[in-house]
Amino acid sequence: MCGIIGYTGIEEAGDMIVDALEILEYRGYDSAGIALCRTDGSVRIRKCAGRVKDLRSLCQREDIRGTCGIGHTRWATHGGVSDGNAHPHQYGKVTLVHNGIIENYRDLVRKYDLQERLQSQTDSEVAAAVLDHFYNGDPFAAIRKAVLKLKGTFALSILFEDFPGIVFAVRNVSPIVIGNVRGGSMLASDVTVLGQYTREYFVLPEFHVAVLKKDGVELYDMSGEATEPEWLTVDWDVDRSGKGGYPFYMEKEIMEQPKVIADTVRPRICGGIPDFTIDGIPDSLLADCRRICVVACGTAMHAGLVGKALMQSFVRIHMDVELASEFMYTDGIVDEETLVIAISQSGETIDTLEAVKYARKHGAKTLAIVNVRGASVALASDYVIYTNAGPEIAVASTKAYTTQLAALYLLTGRMAYVRGSFGEKEAKAFAAELMRVPEAMRQVLDRREEIHYIARSILNAKDVFMMGRGLDYSILLEGSLKLKEISYIHSEAYASGELKHGTIALITEDTPVVAVVTQSRLQSKEFSNIKEVQSRGAGVILFMKETFGMDKESSWNSVFKLPAMEDGFMVMPASAALQLLAYYVSLDKGLDVDKPRNLAKVVTVE
Ligand code: M6R
Repeated sequence: MCGIIGYTGIEEAGDMIVDALEILEYRGYDSAGIALCRTDGSVRIRKCAGRVKDLRSLCQREDIRGTCGIGHTRWATHGGVSDGNAHPHQYGKVTLVHNGIIENYRDLVRKYDLQERLQSQTDSEVAAAVLDHFYNGDPFAAIRKAVLKLKGTFALSILFEDFPGIVFAVRNVSPIVIGNVRGGSMLASDVTVLGQYTREYFVLPEFHVAVLKKDGVELYDMSGEATEPEWLTVDWDVDRSGKGGYPFYMEKEIMEQPKVIADTVRPRICGGIPDFTIDGIPDSLLADCRRICVVACGTAMHAGLVGKALMQSFVRIHMDVELASEFMYTDGIVDEETLVIAISQSGETIDTLEAVKYARKHGAKTLAIVNVRGASVALASDYVIYTNAGPEIAVASTKAYTTQLAALYLLTGRMAYVRGSFGEKEAKAFAAELMRVPEAMRQVLDRREEIHYIARSILNAKDVFMMGRGLDYSILLEGSLKLKEISYIHSEAYASGELKHGTIALITEDTPVVAVVTQSRLQSKEFSNIKEVQSRGAGVILFMKETFGMDKESSWNSVFKLPAMEDGFMVMPASAALQLLAYYVSLDKGLDVDKPRNLAKVVTVE
């Protein structure tokens, strides 16, 4: 979850590292720190609880200089949020920043009798102490011995006092990417930041040691053998010229959706039919499986639920959607005839990554839907579909979600075609409707001020319930997550038919209800269920397909009519509307929309 950075070169490293940390801040933002190494090898640290801007002020007040350094932005796991627990940690001749969790840190403290000199409550400082314990002038030997003792996940960026100007790095599971930059070399926990400085990079292989020097990077395996990195190219637009005039990245990212959905879909329509030739996915993968199982977390899991509804109705194939964090611990059932689809924006979510490894171990074929190129989930899977959402900076996922949906529509269309549920005509009609999605989304986004107005009516709500059936229910789960994570209003989504089985007891006149009605065959049932909550005093905000007739007997708090598409595609415009609803509630409450409390963008701890 934490963001890490390392640089060595000819440039002054301090400002560069702090600038980079600002980009990385979405990975964790409860504290930040920097260590710079002087030419005599001595290392100076500045760190504090708070945001990177607080670190910047600290560095301005207490200037430190150097052309080699490491930096960190933290999402606390072990040890509370405090100046002392902020990284970097220094122990003896070792200074490091860490992303991940050292699970056996208590055992290590006992084994190497470290307690007395530890300054923090973190597992990370223990990693520094173990490295220092094994250090006798040879960093490589110390790293090799220490990592054998560490259990858990780690990405470590390390300075050794006797080796000024050199940054060492090693990792297990938690990612590190590395590149040569102007006048030096750099590492980071993801390409979002590295891509600002170079287009060429490589992913540090697990249990390899990278040695970053002014004149380039060296890579070694654990036996000390030099190895060649596998260079990749950053092929998305990493221009962070800002928020494009919007107050928050989230709004910018919501507004980008028509474009990025088109970018995801267009290259995968050939002769009018969904096609995965550019991804190297053979039709046999889609034709031969007996069932599908999605593994994902949070928003990505919600995308999977929409995928399930699509696959079941268009392809008639059995599909399960599993929380990746539960999958292995509930002994998930997969076999050679299962296609496991792992969905992840970052491609670094540890639970999703572990679920992919588990699935492969049990013989399943794995297909990743990932946004970040070269990410761990992509590398661990047999096949990958990259969504073309570009960097998503706001913690609340929006464009990544809808491009994941776009990929799932494409998969549904191709699968239906290769398995014979669709003939050519149906496959083309399906693809043509998918191509209409960007325009339908645009129509919703153009009317965002209407949704802003609606949002004002729930600003002070304590609870907001959401109700819908079928596909509408699937997207409300995501709409509800969006609302709670950025507005801190408690919200739950219910399948409309389920309310009567318990939850309706919570409905009062103080409980706004958001209802989504877009499915023709469910329309009348939906309206009956809505009446049931209205009869109990709830005010209802209705998002409805524009072509549906209005229920004149009901009085609505607000109604927003969604541009009409085929029922199966209505989730796209409806999702944009729900994203905007959550966004405006958060904005008008004056909250930090992009960095909601307690969260981080990339979840690399279990
Ligand atoms: O990077 P991933 O898609 O694997 O992340 C999974 C979840 O942490 C993520 O979707 C999260 O729920 C959203 N950022 C919430 O908006």
